[in-house]
Amino acid sequence: MYRIIYVSFLKKGTEIEPLIKDIKEKSASKNPKHYITGKLLYSSNTFLQLVEGPKVNVDVLYAIIKNDPRHKMGELIFENEVNDRLYPDFDMMISEVHGLNLNVINKVLKVSNDFQNSSPSDQEILKKMEELENFLIK
Ligand SMILES: Cc1cc2nc3c(=O)[nH]c(=O)nc-3n(C[C@H](O)[C@H](O)[C@H](O)COP(=O)(O)O)c2cc1C
Repeated sequence: MYRIIYVSFLKKGTEIEPLIKDIKEKSASKNPKHYITGKLLYSSNTFLQLVEGPKVNVDVLYAIIKNDPRHKMGELIFENEVNDRLYPDFDMMISEVHGLNLNVINKVLKVSNDFQNSSPSDQEILKKMEELENFLIK
């Protein structure tokens, strides 16, 4: 089982709402067929997506997402073999997080290199994802 987390940004000229609707439809129909699960946090212009599944399938989906012209890839902030899924029940859980941006992501995940190099545990990653979601609601 493989897990990745990446950041990307909405392209100018792309409308967020139809894009989210399309991602919801595509992930609901395609992800289960490829044993993919995960979570997508988004704001008006920033995405943070965690994708889990068999490595080959994660690689294929990531290649497709990277080529999606509606957004611009930022950084791959985490990738690793894992034993368990963090979001086993969601083909792609999608949550809007008002104000999510790179500053906030860096603040919560620290510098992404540190995050990758420190080999965070599943528990730590889950906590960081929750922090990111709650950070901006307060
Ligand atoms: C931020 C972002 C996240 C996405 N996540 C998924 C996903 O989890 N699953 C999926 O099938 N497509 C996802 N997509 C859409 C893909 O880039 C692509 O449009 C879609 O898989 C193409 O499906 P089709 O070949 O059936 O038209 C995402 C796109 C963006 C911009």
